[in-house]
Amino acid sequence: MANEQAVKRLKDHKAKMLEGGGADRIEVQHKKGKLTSRERINILLDEGSFIEQQPYITVRATDFGLENKKFSGDGVVSGSGKIGGKQVFLFSQDFTVLGGSLGEMQAERIVEAQMLALKNGTPFIQINDSGGARIQEGILSLHGYAKIFKANTIASGVIPQFTVILGPCAGGAVYSPAITDFILMVDNVSNMYITGPDVIRAVTGEDISHEALGGAQAHCSKSGNAHFRFSTEQECMDFLKRLISYLPSNNMELPPVVETKDPVDRETAGLMNLLPDDPKRPYDVRDFISEIFDRDSLLEVQEDYAPNVVVGFVKLGGRTVGVFANQPKFYAAALDINSSDKAARFLRFCDAFNIPIVSLVDVPGFLPGVAQEHGGIIRHGAKILYAIAEATVPKIALIIRKAYGGAFIAMCSKALGYDRVLALPTAEIGVMGAEGAANIIFRRDIKAADDPEKMRQEKIAEFKDKVMNPFIAAGYGYVDDVIDPEYTRIEMIRSLEMNIRKREDRPSKKHGNIPL
Ligand code: HXC
Repeated sequence: MANEQAVKRLKDHKAKMLEGGGADRIEVQHKKGKLTSRERINILLDEGSFIEQQPYITVRATDFGLENKKFSGDGVVSGSGKIGGKQVFLFSQDFTVLGGSLGEMQAERIVEAQMLALKNGTPFIQINDSGGARIQEGILSLHGYAKIFKANTIASGVIPQFTVILGPCAGGAVYSPAITDFILMVDNVSNMYITGPDVIRAVTGEDISHEALGGAQAHCSKSGNAHFRFSTEQECMDFLKRLISYLPSNNMELPPVVETKDPVDRETAGLMNLLPDDPKRPYDVRDFISEIFDRDSLLEVQEDYAPNVVVGFVKLGGRTVGVFANQPKFYAAALDINSSDKAARFLRFCDAFNIPIVSLVDVPGFLPGVAQEHGGIIRHGAKILYAIAEATVPKIALIIRKAYGGAFIAMCSKALGYDRVLALPTAEIGVMGAEGAANIIFRRDIKAADDPEKMRQEKIAEFKDKVMNPFIAAGYGYVDDVIDPEYTRIEMIRSLEMNIRKREDRPSKKHGNIPL
């Protein structure tokens, strides 16, 4: 072949490759309101940074007419590029080729990208848009999925892994996303389920749409499978870029430190105005977060799921930290099964990636109830204790108001490993609330009194004043300092700075056995 012809063959091949499944199928994709695999990569990566890996991979199987359906790339585009200058590896499934279905060679391509991300220590992003296992390839497809799951698992805790669901993701295909750290979904674009509406209708008789069953809203607020919800693909990618900018590339690096426009010596005089005088009245802990941490820096994780805890990445004096806050707006901030799962998984991500943990505490305890007990609150609640005790990153707590019982231990106990525990003067620390405590220990006195209710109120006030005030715990050294609310931001930044070099070793072991 003449040189010129060889170059022409390359160019023709590339042009065809860029078309994916062809112009008609791209049009169908656009009509569904979806971008193509390559358009998605383009809006995510820094301009011109994409380096494609193995673009000529193609199907080897020949059954059921696959020999006539050979497409370069085999239904996925993969490679490396930069996000805000940070190297990442990624793949993006191409629905225009055999519905993005995954067979042997697509899996090979994906696993190659996963392994390169792991070896280079870069974040990994998977963009899913696929009909699932390529039916014609049978066992080859299942084998391919298994290899992907294994690579996801090996990479877990070494590099951050993100899944962007931008189309169907059905059957066993959902398990790769579930193993990754964060799942992002877009309304009316993303669907994720083990069995779809047709199978459910046939088996259980339940009638439900794709969106209601496995859309962004269902997974971000009901199942807790997904972490972030958006209205458009562009919005989703913009957020992912911001999230990646907060995180280290791998478990050997520290999170990036940025210049903050919010002064580190800003006083927080308004903090007490956010806290109602009546301890039974709720408030939004997010207001505390925006007052204490760098302004507008919170990236909340699972905002609509288990809202009785707020978790997310936030900046404190320009450093990324993971905030773990009780939210009195829901269930009076009592910890339950779902919030325990949500918090524990987030805390373990922080610890794996060297992100300090800051807890904001106002918690009456674990949620009472038969459903909670029989649902396994013991096992689920233990996850938070385990995650905090296991974490060797700097751990700082601020007690705003209530810190009762087992929830006190989870949120701010020095014995569990918090490095610095600060309390506002409004903190109430105890085995339980003053009312419950007074009812038990002064039961006889109250019963014998001329006016039992008056006596009860006096005993509650006495107990609160004498036993639950933060100076008692501070007297034992279990609270490091009781601080003036006006200097809360300053104190928190200084607490972080003084602990940022922290190193803590643990006995070597294969791995622990967190209660699941
Ligand atoms: C082979 C597939 C495919 C698949 C879609 N296609 N899914 N080909 N294997 N799994 C093909 C279609 O035949 C079609 O090809 C093209 O992709 C586009 O699909 P459409 O059906 O026209 O698109 P749409 O109407 O948008 O519907 C999308 C869909 C539907 C809802 C995803 O295609 C669908 O239900 N597919 C099957 C889903 C499924 O059951 N997958 C297996 C799940 S079990 P032509 O050439 O006709 O246009 C699983 C197990 C994994 O994944 C286990 C791992 C452990």
